[in-house]
Amino acid sequence: MRPARLVTFTLATTALALPLSAAPATAEPRSDERGAPHSNSVFDRLRWAAPQGFHVGTAVAGGGHHLEQDYPDPFTHDRQYRRILGQQFSSVSPENQMKWEFIHPEQDRYDFEAADAIVEFADRHRQVVRGHTLLWHSQNPAWLEQGDFTAEELRAILREHITTVVGRYAGQIQQWDVANEIFDDQGNLRTQDNIWIRELGPGIVADAFRWAHEADPEALLFFNDYGVESDNAKSDAYYALIQELQAEGVPVHGFSVQGHLSTRYGFPGDLEQNLRRFAALGLETAVTELDVRMDLPESGEPTPEQLRQQADYYEQALSACLAVEDCNSFTIWGFTDKYSWVPVFFEGEGSATVMTEDFERKPAFHTLVDGLWEARLDCWWDSWR
Ligand code: XIL
Repeated sequence: MRPARLVTFTLATTALALPLSAAPATAEPRSDERGAPHSNSVFDRLRWAAPQGFHVGTAVAGGGHHLEQDYPDPFTHDRQYRRILGQQFSSVSPENQMKWEFIHPEQDRYDFEAADAIVEFADRHRQVVRGHTLLWHSQNPAWLEQGDFTAEELRAILREHITTVVGRYAGQIQQWDVANEIFDDQGNLRTQDNIWIRELGPGIVADAFRWAHEADPEALLFFNDYGVESDNAKSDAYYALIQELQAEGVPVHGFSVQGHLSTRYGFPGDLEQNLRRFAALGLETAVTELDVRMDLPESGEPTPEQLRQQADYYEQALSACLAVEDCNSFTIWGFTDKYSWVPVFFEGEGSATVMTEDFERKPAFHTLVDGLWEARLDCWWDSWR
């Protein structure tokens, strides 16, 4: 991969840093797991390292599994968390706060408080927002899943929801995950567990995109899924469906891979190639929920070798996206193990994010900063040539 180039690169940024030494630094640098000083310089910030127009994002912790933990709402209560969120990222994705069960808890009641707070935070910190999500088989409220609605009523419910939620944030959401996880691992549409497809047929997916586009013509509208990092049955199904929708003139603008990776399964080596084939359809692509979980030893602490392997996965995922034109959005699913969903959902696995529970930066964090700076410098050289 890149180690040799990284050495030169580090020297280059250090040299570049000198004339620009207005960069703020913390009074007390701490050491991190690489043994390097844990500086707060802008040169150690993901959003500053990123090339122009390339957004580095994170999920904003709250709702979902957090409600069962013994800490208060992370986004509104954890000051250190908020500070890093604002400093490091140029894109934010509500982890749960825009999902149906959260934002539309009763048929006649929306709860916009948490989503509004995130959009407002993003605006103040000059961040873009990825909206997540409008049509999904999971995290739907009981009133919807267990309601006794006719097909006509359900269609009206979905249309009203999309129009209301997308309309409320029109102009403030860069990308919407309109349809999330509509295929199973074999590449079959989820005709049983997805209430919309089961009750209304596959055509409802196109309608969801049309309604979202009407409500916010500026937002880029995405299909989003896990297990589609590689060229496989599931990503093939998206490839075929998107071509059909494009032929019908449906406003689909992007295809995104979540990127919930595990060191158990190896890195999806054809990620770049797979993103390229979607880009060739004229689409934006994105990595939207990257994390890299691992089997933890009995101590609960990852070994240095595990952290190196994890850093390598993060670096490869970033490189793949950077290499593909119109892959302009790269989001990690939380930046600290303190709030990661992984230990709650995957028994025995953990340490999936780029910072420890104490916000100490892991090798994966540095790898991302280095990879972004390298890409940014490459862009500069290119523009001078
Ligand atoms: C997860 C959240 O991180 C948890 O807090 C919640 O309890 C369950 O959902 N794919 C997605 C995300 O599209 O919305 C999921 O987020 C992770 C998998």
